[in-house]
Amino acid sequence: MSKALEGVKILDFTHVQSGPTCTQLLAWFGADVIKVERPGTGDITRGQLQDIPNVDSLYFTMLNHNKRSITLDTKNQKGKEVLEHLIKTCDVLVENFAPGVLDRMGFPWEVIHAMNPRMIVASIKGFGPGPYEDCKVYENVAQCTGGAASTTGFRDGLPLVTGAQIGDSGTGLHLALGIVTALYQRTHSGKGQMVTCAMQDGVLNLCRVKLRDQQRLDHGPLKEYSQYGEGIAFGDATPRAGNDSGGGQPGRILKCKGWETDPNAYIYFITQAPVWEKICDVIGEPDWKTHADYAKPAARLSRLNEIFTRIEQWTMTKTKFEAMDILNQYDIPCGPILSMKEIAEDKSLRATGTLVEVDHPERGKYLSVGNPIKLSDSPANVVRSPLLGEHTDEILRDVLKLPATQIEAIKASGATG
Ligand code: COA
Repeated sequence: MSKALEGVKILDFTHVQSGPTCTQLLAWFGADVIKVERPGTGDITRGQLQDIPNVDSLYFTMLNHNKRSITLDTKNQKGKEVLEHLIKTCDVLVENFAPGVLDRMGFPWEVIHAMNPRMIVASIKGFGPGPYEDCKVYENVAQCTGGAASTTGFRDGLPLVTGAQIGDSGTGLHLALGIVTALYQRTHSGKGQMVTCAMQDGVLNLCRVKLRDQQRLDHGPLKEYSQYGEGIAFGDATPRAGNDSGGGQPGRILKCKGWETDPNAYIYFITQAPVWEKICDVIGEPDWKTHADYAKPAARLSRLNEIFTRIEQWTMTKTKFEAMDILNQYDIPCGPILSMKEIAEDKSLRATGTLVEVDHPERGKYLSVGNPIKLSDSPANVVRSPLLGEHTDEILRDVLKLPATQIEAIKASGATG
């Protein structure tokens, strides 16, 4: 079966997490992703957080599946010539260097565009144009400057960053969409274009509902926040809302049986208005169905703490999985708090390929997250990440079609390490 992006060649200049997540997605959709790495070290993550000495880290292997690796010193004259050849051959160049790096390398957009007018150049930077455009940025910087940290955590606690890598993987996902969109436009225009995505912008896009709340504050308190029920005045900025649901259906994380010893014995419970009566029956408060203080959503808003305390008395009598089974019989939305250990052992996630076991020649078998986006006519087949420079010869020979003598000259110059 052919793949959706078959025939698309990606010149992958990405490193660390944000860019590699983008090109990994494109590879899963069938693009030929050629990862250019510095001879000797390669992507810095190969050596970071290593769990097995001198073996590519899980950090690297889990972000670079289905790619080919070529080592190339782009500051070496012969290396520059190979890079120029790759630019002329590929469809998309993806990079997430610090601002200015590509220019210093001698390959600003104008030069690339002149060499290959069809090439799409896709970049991730920490910030867009403005006072911080020259800054180097990592995940948590983006979470802090994109509005996530100030709105995550509890009202009386520190701002918090989330475990979900919304700055890196989130921006990689945004960029991937930009790239396939530009590829589509190229089918009409015949031209490449620049695709840029700033990590601050990507995080802000994911925090859209918090900017919604910022503006709602001008017209009164945010009644679905616990803070409202607690009688605590709102300030002038969207506050941290703990585990309050971000939508119009109040929700909280509640204790389940075993919470005293198990840090994940909790369930997220949503008091969705259409199933309120069923909730009352399940928790043993049938009178609340008609009582003026509880029957209507508006009346419940100032009583949410009392209501969730009562619901929690019920959830504490059940394990999170028992509660899930019972609540789903009544279409009451809920979600057990699953640990990474529980997720890693989840049979259905393995069956769908969202979790995959991959074999690596140096580390053996490891577990990874496969492609979460399923295309019926282009299923992703996860292939292990490349060793450093594993495909250098193959790319020079088969992609650039260089004769053996030229390949020897390139190697002799030290350009490939
Ligand atoms: N051959 C020769 N030199 C190479 C090379 C190659 N194949 N690949 C990279 N380099 C050089 C670059 O030319 C650059 O050199 P210069 O500064 O002399 O011009 C150098 O390596 C370092 O690149 P840089 O991107 O600055 O790496 P860094 O480790 O200092 O910074 C980041 C890392 C992630 C902070 C930075 O790249 C960044 O801010 N990226 C944009 C935002 C981003 O994606 N952040 C999230 C990462 S998960």
